Order: sequence, then structure tokens, then C-alpha cells
Amino acid sequence: MSDKNNDTLDKTSASRRRFLQAGLAGGAVLAGASAARAAGDPLITEVQDWNRYLGDGVDANPYGMPSEFEAHVVRRDVPWLTADPVSSINFTPLHELDGIITPNGVCFERHHGGTAIINPADHRLMINGLVDTPLVFTMQDLMRFPRENRVYFLECAANSGMEWRGSQLNGCQFTHGMVHCVAYTGVPLKYLLEEAGVKTNGKWVLAEGADAAAMTRSIPMDKALDDCLVAFKMNGEALRPEQGYPLRLVVPGWEGNMWVKWLRRLEVGDEPWAQREETSKYTDLLANGKARRHTWEMEVKSVITNPSPQAPITHGRGQMVISGLAWSGYGRIQRVDVSIDGGRNWQTARLDGPSLPKALHRFYHDFQWDGSEMLIQSRAIDEGGYIQPTKDELRAARGENSIYHNNGIQTWYVKADGVVENVEVS
Ligand code: MTE
Ligand code: CO
Repeated sequence: MSDKNNDTLDKTSASRRRFLQAGLAGGAVLAGASAARAAGDPLITEVQDWNRYLGDGVDANPYGMPSEFEAHVVRRDVPWLTADPVSSINFTPLHELDGIITPNGVCFERHHGGTAIINPADHRLMINGLVDTPLVFTMQDLMRFPRENRVYFLECAANSGMEWRGSQLNGCQFTHGMVHCVAYTGVPLKYLLEEAGVKTNGKWVLAEGADAAAMTRSIPMDKALDDCLVAFKMNGEALRPEQGYPLRLVVPGWEGNMWVKWLRRLEVGDEPWAQREETSKYTDLLANGKARRHTWEMEVKSVITNPSPQAPITHGRGQMVISGLAWSGYGRIQRVDVSIDGGRNWQTARLDGPSLPKALHRFYHDFQWDGSEMLIQSRAIDEGGYIQPTKDELRAARGENSIYHNNGIQTWYVKADGVVENVEVS
């Protein structure tokens, strides 16, 4: 009898020991942060220079810059994509950022004729075409209209375009970094059009930039009157020159190409203009040789920013955080799912921070990594119920000729040593 009891007891304590060991192993990572570790660590036991000597005074940085230890947090380009820097692209370092707002200095840049440098005193915005009164505004004139503050993502239609035919670029900065999310201050475009008085046959607006590329895009009047802004501030300060200083058009949820920078003219017309940027470019060639055009909305999309190829896991197994971004040109993000096994099983991620329509959303998945290989993916669903497609689903629908509007699910292959690679699963 007693043997039997002992047996039972032994089993219980054995499994309890296993549990404790598992607990300890899990805790071992956190133990790295415990006070015991400090023994013998000179960073704890010895007074450091920054603790001993006075620092710089308040006048050292009239315009503050990030810490020198953050010098790696910069926009980067892909050399083979950027033969000529004036008609080129660089990418937001998504893997170095958190939250939903992109700092002004690292918002990706895309320009077709270089950055125009314009003194705001010399800048004019004209409204002409099918209006009762053609108008020309100075920057001061614009400041007299009611203005609003809104947070929006801007995604270039070509974001992830280089990945249409397969995984290619090793880093979310390069695969997904043609996106930024900024708090804009501007005048609703509706007020300016109302001031000019749109004629009843005025159904389209042509937006034109003052840069050497004189970028032009046709925008349907419904959108112009709905939520477009003529913006002059980003994240509280003046637009950066590379983002269109002193004035840019904000076209929420729609492809970045329509967000005309250095905005100088709005022409009202009765049909679209068929400009270069809406015919030979920014259309999607399908497998049957026909092209989709007027594909304005940026559909639901997400990407895991950490870990990712430029941001491997360096802390070993145990407790960890997967983090990423999700967005939809149709509104808010309703849910993000995360998979660590290539899409076989999904867990609901934790959305954190403001959930604003047509803005980036931040998600986290907090879990215990057992140290084995993972194929990590995220899949976003927007409030309209649109589910982010797999890359196979996207190619089945659109063929392989496209560049623009690639919102397929991204897979990162995480190896046991924490190194991460861009791969595809099917
Ligand atoms: N506006 C002008 N005037 N000239 C341009 O070259 N590039 C467009 C758009 N507006 C462009 C422009 C493209 S393709 C994109 S994706 C966005 O601006 C990029 O905005 P960003 O440089 O602020 O990221
Ligand atoms: Co673009």
C-alpha cells in the first residue's frame, strides 16, 4: 500500500519538478534582468562618466536630433533600384520603429524629379477649370481657412512590388518600407473647392505638383469633397522639403502617387485626364493582357516588423514579443492574426495604441519561444471584413505581371539561432 502511495507521490513530485524546471527555464531569460546578475558588472558597481561629469547645456541642439547611438535608424535605398537618385525611392526603417507614428526624418521618400526647394513666400496654389471663380491662394490665404488634424498612412502603390514574383529583398524596410503614418494639419480640400464654386459638370480634380516632374493625377470629385486635405504640417511641424514643403495633397487610404507634393494647382474637369501616372504607370497588367486602372484604394495589409531579417532575435528562447503593423485604405483594422508555423495555426494578436481609420495600427503577439525554427506571418482583417490574401491567392487573381498593390501575406523564416530570412510558403 505504502509502495503504491510512494509511487504516486514520486510521480507527483517528478512531474512537479518538471514543471518547476520548465518554469525556471522560462524564467531564466528574465533572470537576465534580475539583481543577482549585477554582481561583478562594472556598469552597476562602478560610477560611469555620464554619471560623473556634467552634460551639454540646453543650447547644444537648437533643433534636437536622435541619440548618436541611433545613427543606424535611417532611410535606406536598394542600389539596383536607384540608378538615378532624383527619380528614386528610399525606405522607412520599419524594423527600428514602434507605435503608429513615423518620425518625420525617416518617412520614406519617393520623387520623380528630385526635391523641389520652395520658399513658402513664393508658393501659390491655383484652382482653375470648371469653377465659378478661378482662385490663387498664397500660404497666408490658406491659413485663414478652418483646419483639421488627422492621422493617415501613405503607402506607395509600388510597396512590396519587387516581391510579386517571389521573395527577393531581405528586410521589412525594403519589402514594406514604402509606407509612413503621420499626423497632418491642413485645410479640407472641400473648403477650397467650395470657395471657388465647382460647376455642376465638375466631376474630377487634377492635382499638379510644382516640382520638376510636375506630377499630375486625376481625383474623382466625390473623394476630393470627402476627406482630402491640403496639408502644411506633419507631426506638428512644417512638412519636410522631401514630403512636399510647403504644401501637399493628402488623399487618405489611396495610393501614395495621388498625394501630390509641392501642390501648386487644382484643375476641375468633367473627366479624368489620362496622365502618364494613371495610364502607363499605376495600372496593373493582368495575365490576359488587360490592365486594371483607377485602382486607388490601398487594400488591407500587414507585416511583422520584429523579428525580421534586419532585426534578428538576439535574446534566445523564452518570453518574447512579435510586433508589426497593419493598415487598410478602407478604414480601421478589426483584427490581426499571427502564425508561427507558416499559416497552419493562427493566434489573435493584441492591437495596441489608437485605432484610427486609414492609419497604421500596431500589433503585438506575446509568447514563449521554444527556440525552434518558425515561419512567422501576420494576416490583417479590416472593419469591412476584407481579409489580407496570401501571395498565391493574389497571383491567382492578378497574374504575375503586376508591380502595384501587392498586399499579400509576408513570411519570415526564423532560424533556431534567431537569424531571419525572407521566404515564401505555399
Ligand atoms: N508629388 C510630386 N509633386 N512629385 C512626385 O514625384 N511622388 C508621388 C507622391 N507625390 C511625387 C508626388 C509618389 S509615387 C509617392 S509614393 C508619394 O508622393 C511619396 O510621398 P513621400 O515622399 O512623402 O513618402
Ligand atoms: Co509612389
